[in-house]
Amino acid sequence: MAIQPKLIIHGGAGSTVESKGGLEPVRQSLYAVINTVYPMLLNGESAIAAVVKGCELLENDPRFNAGTGSVLQSDGQIRMSASIMDGDRQSFSGVINTARVKNPIYLAQALQTSDDRVLSDQGSVELIRELGIPVFNPLTDERLYEWIEERKTNFSRKMADVAMGTIGVVALDQNGHLCAGTSTGGRGFERIGRVSDSAMPAGNYATANAAVSCTGVGEDIIDECVAAKIVVRVTDGMSLQAAVDKSFAEAFSRNRDFGAICLDASGAIAWGKTTSVLFAAYHDGSGIGDTLI
Ligand code: GLY
Repeated sequence: MAIQPKLIIHGGAGSTVESKGGLEPVRQSLYAVINTVYPMLLNGESAIAAVVKGCELLENDPRFNAGTGSVLQSDGQIRMSASIMDGDRQSFSGVINTARVKNPIYLAQALQTSDDRVLSDQGSVELIRELGIPVFNPLTDERLYEWIEERKTNFSRKMADVAMGTIGVVALDQNGHLCAGTSTGGRGFERIGRVSDSAMPAGNYATANAAVSCTGVGEDIIDECVAAKIVVRVTDGMSLQAAVDKSFAEAFSRNRDFGAICLDASGAIAWGKTTSVLFAAYHDGSGIGDTLI
């Protein structure tokens, strides 16, 4: 018997919805993705296909800090990171600090079947060439202006305004398979070579039991190993909600700055945040909901 599919997506976390253009525009952006991707799952498509499509759409939306609209690093360049993890095969793949590509999630997906499953900058450029993916400049005027303004104060801010706009998608398909995908332009204004959590199991992780995508300050996510921690707790028998509650109680106690979206194989949906807002929406089989207010 087919399992009821589930879907949860995020476009980052932050202190206010105004930082992303206001409640309704953010809601519309997120719901548009749900309305495209959830029917794919109902039509029997795989969790992996749903995650790739959802990440592609979120990467293409300049509101979010991934793909088009990515923030700039301290040297004025955009370097993006993305990963995907197939829970059924427990297989992680991703790219770190890739550039001049529209959809980094495609690279992460292509590496699922490779012997070498996580590639950094130069390797990802080779992969783009091998796959015949056209060169693309993800820079938007808004992100460039933000960088120019911040340069005047020698990058005194810790991160760009939309930096916590990492995107992520977690899906459960009709066969009961889970998948998680995450993509980011990074923290913004970071030094060259800084590695994001988004292409690490700390920020994106899945097994046959649970799947999680994180957003927020990468260093905090890495320190807590959030995605893998929640998934391992569920895999070891804890309920999804209990695993999220425990992991976020630990995060609060250490003043961390992040959020996470989560699904388990039974179809439970959960999320957590230490930030004021988590820009997430979901489809639980009966309708769409969100975490915006
Ligand atoms: N979570 C995205 C980053 O810090 O790079």
